[in-house]
Amino acid sequence: VCRGLSSSAVRNVAIKHLTVIGGGQMGAGIAQVAASTGHSVTLVDTNGEILKKAVKGIEGNLKRVAKKKFSDKPESGEEFIQKALQNVSTSTDAAAVVQGSDLVVEAIVENLKVKQDIFSGLDKLAPAHTIFASNTSSLSITDIASSTSRLDRFAGLHFFNPVPVMKLVEVIGTSATSQETLDCLLNFSKVLGKTPVSCKDTPGFIVNRLLLPYIIEAIRMYERGHGSKEDIDIAMKLGCGYPMGPLELADYVGLDTMKFIMDYWSAANPENPSFAQSESLNKLVAEGFYKYK
Ligand code: NAI
Repeated sequence: VCRGLSSSAVRNVAIKHLTVIGGGQMGAGIAQVAASTGHSVTLVDTNGEILKKAVKGIEGNLKRVAKKKFSDKPESGEEFIQKALQNVSTSTDAAAVVQGSDLVVEAIVENLKVKQDIFSGLDKLAPAHTIFASNTSSLSITDIASSTSRLDRFAGLHFFNPVPVMKLVEVIGTSATSQETLDCLLNFSKVLGKTPVSCKDTPGFIVNRLLLPYIIEAIRMYERGHGSKEDIDIAMKLGCGYPMGPLELADYVGLDTMKFIMDYWSAANPENPSFAQSESLNKLVAEGFYKYK
């Protein structure tokens, strides 16, 4: 994948085997896409039950994909499913499986300390050429990478939910990430059948940096009484051709997730009005209940 690049530890590295850490929604999706594009994947989670569930989920999704893709050739569909499944193994011990990995993609709980702990441990065990990447939505890649000694081989690789469906991958470079590492991840994303974009390590990267302030402003517009909830959503759907209005989208993303991200960003950037608090959001999350109608 990365042939012909200048000298660096990642020179001539083709990503063939990867370790995906975190067998939740995102990790399972990343493992599925990598396995069905010919990579061998070890999916890691601390919880063995979650791993069983993840593999079951992957199998179900692959069956659906095969039915559509090979509708006139069921034998080829079956072959596709078996091949992909053979590419997936699981483990509850990341340290034990990282040796053979060209890439480690982390998709665990959104907590800086927990992510740093995982990477600092694996940094001592993984081969020199192994690239480390985080799928974080809101944390700083630079902060996560600082727990390792492979700053040039550390980047963000941000997938979107649901991973098998969404075409975009954000490839995020810190000021220390090498061009070889970025090229390798851009190529890898293409091999996965995705469209990668490059971006800097700033809060929210591209998509969430634009999306969250937009949703929050829609909530504020409602707070100011400038439009009804229904009219704000209808306006953006019909006026911009968006499939969902901002308030409907807020519910889809999860109000608690949005508050978590906005709180983190506003703490780090208190002067930025785009990250200011929303009373309604705080109230709804505090009540722990909101149903979009
Ligand atoms: P999730 O809660 O579905 O899965 C996280 C998994 O990580 C759980 O199965 C948990 O058991 C496991 N885990 C926690 N600590 C671990 C450790 N130390 N070692 C191994 N496994 C561990 O979370 P989800 O939604 O898959 O998100 C994961 C990451 O992806 C987060 O950083 C999130 O910000 C990011 N992300 C989430 C998106 C989404 O729409 N859900 C979209 C893009 C990125």
